[in-house]
Amino acid sequence: MDFTMDVENNNTQLPPANAPEKCPEKRKATATSDDKPVEIKRLKEDCSDVATAPRPPPQSPKKRLQLEGKPSNNKPKYNKDLNFLYGNYKHYYGKRILDKDFHDIRLDVLATQPELFRDKQLLDIGCNSGHLSIEICKKFNAKSLVGLDIDRGLVKDAQTTIGSLKRLAPPGSTFPYNVKFLHGNYVLDDDVLLEIERPQFDVILCLSVTKWIHLNFCDAGLKQAFRRMFLQLRPGGKLILEPQSFDGYKRRKRLSESIRDNYNSIKFRPDQFPEYLLSPEVGFASMELMGIPEHCKTGFKRPIQIFTKA
Ligand SMILES: C[S@@+](CC[C@H](N)C(=O)[O-])C[C@H]1O[C@@H](n2cnc3c(N)ncnc32)[C@H](O)[C@@H]1O
Repeated sequence: MDFTMDVENNNTQLPPANAPEKCPEKRKATATSDDKPVEIKRLKEDCSDVATAPRPPPQSPKKRLQLEGKPSNNKPKYNKDLNFLYGNYKHYYGKRILDKDFHDIRLDVLATQPELFRDKQLLDIGCNSGHLSIEICKKFNAKSLVGLDIDRGLVKDAQTTIGSLKRLAPPGSTFPYNVKFLHGNYVLDDDVLLEIERPQFDVILCLSVTKWIHLNFCDAGLKQAFRRMFLQLRPGGKLILEPQSFDGYKRRKRLSESIRDNYNSIKFRPDQFPEYLLSPEVGFASMELMGIPEHCKTGFKRPIQIFTKA
């Protein structure tokens, strides 16, 4: 089985959670802002206040801890749980798939064009724990599938699942031996690395991932990822894109200070993605709407689009 995804060009150097690399706007902000002196001054002022302020009435240690832990009103409140900065939820499919058969409703949309996948080489960007990738490869008889995710733990889970399926598979079967999961950041450290990309996939899936690339790597990172997708597709290849709407970004901007800054810097909106993907800067020849999954939660009713490389 030929897994030709260029592992050399796979970006396994992840940026620290609070310092995304890709945003020039962010770098500029860091270089020019001067938070420290302000912070020190405020601390000094606070100290002098303590010296002169009247003592508060005595309180129980429990009550005092509660009061001290309460965030002040004038500071932004960030979600302390920085584990899911990339949308790398551990139980994503448990939340998304609500029916008892564990059937992902997006498979019904993909099933409207099964020939897109049959005997094709697929890349699934942001594969999470691999549930949907495995289903797609099996159900549509793909030639091979590479799943890539920025979260090492999720990739390990996906590899464990494939390992178990291999133990159960009849000898000589193609599936699941044609599935492979890799850890890495799809966004490259430098655009110059795009120069060594070559066409190696027939289909690239990018489902519910654009928001996370966008919030962590800004407009520049997402545009680079789109260009990389185009370069990795063979002529006639398809990008299957399920972008999140911009409304859904807002809720996530409290995840961290970096993500809030990145969110504020975004100018490239999801409704502009088709125009960009079809522009000479990327190069796709056409776009069609594959369908909108009939999910019972409005937030998961995201259009699935197909972009074709001529
Ligand atoms: C919301 S989940 C979607 C999972 C899957 N694509 C689906 O639709 O069922 C987003 C996934 O993208 C991954 N991800 C986010 N940014 C990424 C990046 N820059 N490179 C690779 N994976 C990324 C996250 O770790 C997470 O597993």
